[in-house]
Amino acid sequence: MNLSNKLKYWYLENKRHLPWRETKDPYAIWLSEIILQQTRVIQGLPYYEAFLKTYPTVFDLANAPEDDILRLWQGLGYYSRARNLHETAKKVAFEYNGSFPNNYKDLILLKGIGDYTAAAIASIAFDEVVPVVDGNVFRVLSRIYGITSDISAGATKKEFQQLAQTLIPQNNPALFNQAIMDFGAIQCTPKSPDCSACPFIKECIAYQTNQVDKLPIKISK
Ligand code: ADE
Repeated sequence: MNLSNKLKYWYLENKRHLPWRETKDPYAIWLSEIILQQTRVIQGLPYYEAFLKTYPTVFDLANAPEDDILRLWQGLGYYSRARNLHETAKKVAFEYNGSFPNNYKDLILLKGIGDYTAAAIASIAFDEVVPVVDGNVFRVLSRIYGITSDISAGATKKEFQQLAQTLIPQNNPALFNQAIMDFGAIQCTPKSPDCSACPFIKECIAYQTNQVDKLPIKISK
């Protein structure tokens, strides 16, 4: 079985049940991704619920006073995220008639949406075949494939994006991206992963060569 299929079966058994995984609404998915940019899932969950309850649609958020939004954001930190959230809500509501752009290339033009977030929204809300690449993905792929590139070097991200692009399946890219997020968060953890329970134990180069705790390599300056 290939990597993406194995990952899929692992995910179906082990995934986290998160409310933004019960919807295809681009607004709700965008909201979840902005909240999760610098915030852990456990901490972000109540904020996601509160924002959706207070502002059920992008029009509600766009029309809200900025102070109210900032107040609801209180405790999450990085307040530029909340200001960008409002600015993008207004753009989508008033310039795009409430419809989010439906692809990576246009999503990344919006305030507060970088490479990871554009890939997450495009794949999860619109089934675009574009991989997310973050610390979790660096860790999972560097270990399985034994990649020793320095993840703090700029060119390394391209390398992982290219590899991930070859792995992400044409059907259900959303599942693949969320599976790799959860696999990195739950199974292939930074410290002391339980490799005896890992479905990739046979092919994982890091495990086979005793380098699990050495990968990914990060040469901090
Ligand atoms: N971190 C960033 N995006 C996420 C998502 N959609 N699910 C879980 N964790 C995430």
